[in-house]
Amino acid sequence: MESALTARDRVGVQDFVLLENHTSEAAFIENLRKRFKENLIYTYIGSVLVSVNPYKDLEIYTKNHMERYRGVNFYEVSPHLYAVSDNSYRSMRTERKDQCILISGESGAGKTEASKKILQYYAVTCPASEHVQTIKDRLLQSNPVLEAFGNAKTLRNDNSSRFGKYMDIQFDFKGAPVGGHIINYLLEKSRVVHQNHGERNFHIFYQLIEGGEEDLLRRLGLERNPQQYQYLVKGNCPKVSSINDRSDWKVVRKALTVIGFSEDEVEELLNIIASVLHLGNVQYGGEDSGNACITSDTQIKYLARLLGVNGTVLTEALTHKKIIAKGEELMSPLNLEQASSARDALSKAVYGRTFTWLVNKINASLAYTDDSYKNWSVIGLLDIYGFEVFQNNSFEQFCINYCNEKLQQLFIELTLKSEQEEYEAEGITWEPVQYFNNKIICDLVEEKFKGIISILDEECLRPGDASDITFLEKLEDTVGGHPHFVTHKLADGKTRKVMGRDEFRLLHYAGEVNYNVNGFLDKNNDLLFRNLKEVMCMSENKILNQCFDREELTDKKRPDTAATQFKASLAKLMEILMSKEPSYIRCIKPNDSKQAGRFDEVLIRHQVKYLGLMENLRVRRAGFAYRRRYEVFLQRYKSLCPDTWPNWRGKLADGVATLVKHLGYKPEEYKLGRSKIFIRFPKTLFATEDALETRKHSLGESPQHVLLSLPSPLNLSHIVTICLSHTFHSDTPLQPPRFIKGFIYRHQERCPENEYFLDYVRYSFLMKLRRNLPKNVLDKSWPTPPAALTEASEHLRKMCMQNMVWTYCKRISPEWKHQMEQKMIASEIFKDKKDNYPQSVPKLFVSTRLNGEEINPKVLQALGTEKMKYAVPVTKYDRKGYKARPRQLLLTANCAIIVEEAKLKQRIDYKALKGVSVSSLSDGLFVLHVPSDDNKQKGDVVLQSDHVIETLTKVAICADKINNININQGSITFTVGQGKEGIIDFTPGSELLVAKAKNGHLSVVSPTLFCPGTWEGFHM
Ligand SMILES: Nc1ncnc2c1ncn2[C@@H]1O[C@H](COP(=O)(O)OP(=O)(O)OP(=O)(O)O)[C@@H](O)[C@H]1O
Ligand SMILES: [Mg+2]
Repeated sequence: MESALTARDRVGVQDFVLLENHTSEAAFIENLRKRFKENLIYTYIGSVLVSVNPYKDLEIYTKNHMERYRGVNFYEVSPHLYAVSDNSYRSMRTERKDQCILISGESGAGKTEASKKILQYYAVTCPASEHVQTIKDRLLQSNPVLEAFGNAKTLRNDNSSRFGKYMDIQFDFKGAPVGGHIINYLLEKSRVVHQNHGERNFHIFYQLIEGGEEDLLRRLGLERNPQQYQYLVKGNCPKVSSINDRSDWKVVRKALTVIGFSEDEVEELLNIIASVLHLGNVQYGGEDSGNACITSDTQIKYLARLLGVNGTVLTEALTHKKIIAKGEELMSPLNLEQASSARDALSKAVYGRTFTWLVNKINASLAYTDDSYKNWSVIGLLDIYGFEVFQNNSFEQFCINYCNEKLQQLFIELTLKSEQEEYEAEGITWEPVQYFNNKIICDLVEEKFKGIISILDEECLRPGDASDITFLEKLEDTVGGHPHFVTHKLADGKTRKVMGRDEFRLLHYAGEVNYNVNGFLDKNNDLLFRNLKEVMCMSENKILNQCFDREELTDKKRPDTAATQFKASLAKLMEILMSKEPSYIRCIKPNDSKQAGRFDEVLIRHQVKYLGLMENLRVRRAGFAYRRRYEVFLQRYKSLCPDTWPNWRGKLADGVATLVKHLGYKPEEYKLGRSKIFIRFPKTLFATEDALETRKHSLGESPQHVLLSLPSPLNLSHIVTICLSHTFHSDTPLQPPRFIKGFIYRHQERCPENEYFLDYVRYSFLMKLRRNLPKNVLDKSWPTPPAALTEASEHLRKMCMQNMVWTYCKRISPEWKHQMEQKMIASEIFKDKKDNYPQSVPKLFVSTRLNGEEINPKVLQALGTEKMKYAVPVTKYDRKGYKARPRQLLLTANCAIIVEEAKLKQRIDYKALKGVSVSSLSDGLFVLHVPSDDNKQKGDVVLQSDHVIETLTKVAICADKINNININQGSITFTVGQGKEGIIDFTPGSELLVAKAKNGHLSVVSPTLFCPGTWEGFHM
């Protein structure tokens, strides 16, 4: 792999495993930098893909790129997320094991973009039927909808996902996507009521206001101005240059329809969005009495209508709280602060629950309904918030960073630890690799009774005066001694200086983060006053009706706190991920200013550290790249060794040992464990794969003629791909009994015994062809087809050539086109007829051999307005004594002119030019024939040019005499005025000699040229 990879891509190494100095962080970052500068944003660490956000559109996500990665071995092509996608897809199909792709990285690193690109890859490359197309559309369209409701502009990312997302794509047995399911995690609801400076609320609010039709806004009671809404002005950033809310609105509106929302549902959904904006504008008064009252009922009127509730009841619920004293229900008035937070709590609850409803609704539309075949396979995509550290970190950052600790733990478990454990289990010597196991931090957060979440819950639930500060004190009491926990009180002097008294610090695997406890209890309780819940349960809005279930009111059990719910959902997520084969995409943000081309080394080093990339690399380099169970390895490759083919009767390990010995594996390339072979370098495996491919090919032939019926579009790779999808499922592992049987029956008509084999042979040829298509029109290589595919192969070859010619023609400039036209004419006249033609082929024709200064001004003056098309120095031989005279030959649009210094010696109108004679040898002599009865002419002209092919091609074109250039063997007869004739005799010799012979002829000895093989044409 090493040489192949570096040859393919000379900018740094495309797999960090190949880094010379693989333990050096500086070398690691330098490699990233080098590649980033060349727009190579993807690099592997073994099978982990590292991706650096380019912050600009690179032309690497086209359909052609998708095709390039489809069905191709992971290491055969340069790193790309399509390679990871394709690899997961093929593993899912061949190994029948569910897959998941975990995309991680900090905010703005490109996680969501990557997950969308992967989804697009599957949508484009997987087989489809009508039903599948609908599902593909819905899967794709779920993105703009979820982004509208769940993404927002933050300081770090203009389209930041404010929720975590795990999406399962379900595939049927044919590999077609037939369904999907989304799980969402912890929407940042607080954004609905508050945004930091420079940030926005969720996109949907602005989209609705900017893009909503007049009629719609009127119905919703909204104005087309975000500044009017309290919930949209906090960040003071209604407009963002990179976002077009109006066009995004159209996209979202269309997507809702594609997903299957009815008009009524859309209306009810928008009623809710509008009502959140109205809620934000509910103003309270009543400072004097201390009891809050609503000062204007405009908002309440809209709210009552949009939410489908009674206005009076809503007003009361927004200003009072229901308490039960001595078994009696009482309404207790709220003060201003309490009322505002009750209102905000309602807004958050309404928005948050609606978001969950939306996800459920999308899930219903993606659900695979065909019960007849439940046995689908799954690829999961996890796009979840990365590690976050702000100036002020609150409950949300605590949850997000906890989530990242869990994912890191999973990463460690699945890649580092399990790798090591597997070597140990196999009895292979393992050089221990130091890595930080972050289980200790996960435990600190989540352990029952002792963990931070348990302590927080306890404070939320206990009677008495619990507050954020008592929570902090409890933490100090319980986990104060933990090595990854510090508070102001517990810290040393230096740390104290950078910590507030209301903060606790966690030493995460990624770095230290101070969390401010203010708001922890409220956010964890996530309480909505009972009477507000009651109002919402009575809502006539059908969506809210589903969001606020009446049973909630009668259920005596207190709902789980936000942190506990989150913890449970993460535990579930870990379970889901653990049950699947993982692939990783580790995203890196190159700078904090969202700029293309800027590589901020400090920022990147930090990310390399907390993504654990160096650790990952150390393990990959220390270990083996591949491992296979003996039976699998032997089954696959046994045909490559006479001792193991067709069956190995002894112990599996001995069979594998025999096989690899036969294959010439060197001792350092592999190790044999208890049940598996371990292969250190991918190159060893690929060499074996190639040998297998050749072996299979040598066995095959196929009678298929599907290709012949195809139209002739120009993208051959596409055609081959179509053929492949029609033919053999590449993912089906080789099935020896069928294969052998097929081989035996291969000469018979297609029948059940041989159809697998025949398809396989056809498939192999097409696969090989796809990988080895000629690179340009001069490349005549073409894989040899099996006998039965000869005709189809010939068709494909012609189409491929046409395609390359067409592509080539499309690219050429007018000058180059003109050059080629002249060369074509030269070829028509001289090819295989004149000896010095081949030498002229690679030399470009020039527009003229004499420029203005080299022609006497009097000549130019005499030409007047007649434009000169070509001029060349020539030698003229006198008609009588054959004396050589230097002259110039000028070609204009109408005539050829022989010039002697300042004099126009002879003018030959093209109309009068009877023809041109030239020898078949390598000399430059030629004769311009003119009519002998023309008194003005002194007879034919004998000339010699050093560029005879070019000169005569120009004459032929200017005079339109392509068919009048005569190539003569032996001698040329010409007229010397008034009926007299002269003769030129041509003979081959060692060097050019032109002289009058004793017989009065002009004798020309033409040098014989060395002819270097066949000339195909000049180089393009
Ligand atoms: N492969 C890419 N090609 C071009 N631009 C990209 C690519 N990946 C990301 N970007 C740019 O970076 C921006 C941020 O990417 P993205 O939204 O995927 O980040 P994220 O990791 O999901 O962040 P968050 O955690 O905030 O949701 C995109 O809006 C886009 O402008
Ligand atoms: Mg995102």
